[in-house]
Amino acid sequence: MLRIKDINHVVYRHPDLDAVERFLTDFGLVVAHRTDERLYMRGAGTIPYVYVAERSHMPSFAAVAFALESATDLVAAQLLPGASKVAPIGAPGGGQCVTLTDPAGRSVQLVHGIEAVEPIPMRPALTLNNAEEKRRFGDVQRAPRAPAQVLRLGHIALGVTDVARNLRWYTEVLGLLPSDFIVETQNEPPVAAFLRLNRGDAWTDHHTVALFHAPEDHVHHASFEVQDLDAQFHGNAWMVSQGWTPVWGVGRHILGSQIFDYWRDPSGNIIEHFTDGDLYKHDSPLGVTPASDDSLYQWGPPMTVERFLGGAIQL
Ligand SMILES: [Fe+2]
Repeated sequence: MLRIKDINHVVYRHPDLDAVERFLTDFGLVVAHRTDERLYMRGAGTIPYVYVAERSHMPSFAAVAFALESATDLVAAQLLPGASKVAPIGAPGGGQCVTLTDPAGRSVQLVHGIEAVEPIPMRPALTLNNAEEKRRFGDVQRAPRAPAQVLRLGHIALGVTDVARNLRWYTEVLGLLPSDFIVETQNEPPVAAFLRLNRGDAWTDHHTVALFHAPEDHVHHASFEVQDLDAQFHGNAWMVSQGWTPVWGVGRHILGSQIFDYWRDPSGNIIEHFTDGDLYKHDSPLGVTPASDDSLYQWGPPMTVERFLGGAIQL
């Protein structure tokens, strides 16, 4: 079985790299490298880039990449259905990749050997007092008014015309495990599926790939992790102050429990900040939830599934 360490980076195509650089900087990513044709943005973690923007006439999604545990996994990945041979990545940090194509025709890269970089120090998480337990004595809370510092890419959400087929591919080919299904009718395939990595006994995010039924195949959003609730709200205020377009949030999801907010980038894509998500491991039980607006969030600005998921189709 293919061993995936984590989601690594996403590649989008944009007509205006300057506008995207401004947007992603306000979003909390940091420019790692820039050429005329490509912009590499990093988080505070050790991966040299978590978001690649390629110049193109029309905006589109180019690829999602997952990091493999070992070179052995990379060699084995060549045997997967439709896989390319191992090829050099040709980007900062080097490394190699095998490229697959998912049932929606999307490029899925399996990468290994990208050289790690020094992490950027993050503001330490705030020490929170709750009603019954006090943990902060004689100290104050002063999180800075600034972009929410992004640590890493956390997940990608895909609208797909055929959930069952994509679910089979992502579980059987990539080896992901289902954490939650959303169902409309009992005994019918789910209309949405939240899939996590199989990391054995190690805890991993509730979902690294989310699939939901859509009239056309598209990437709904990519989601990036920030330090804590105050980073999320300060980041939200920062994005508003810079004139960027909010889509939804701040709120807390139900499936995965993440605190979230969503933004529209200059090309029209949706991008998410999240913090405080659930952690699962290989034997965590599968949940099944009836489809309704209540399956979307616990609190936050009013939203419907139709409006939220339909918001990206215009791409
Ligand atoms: Fe998300």
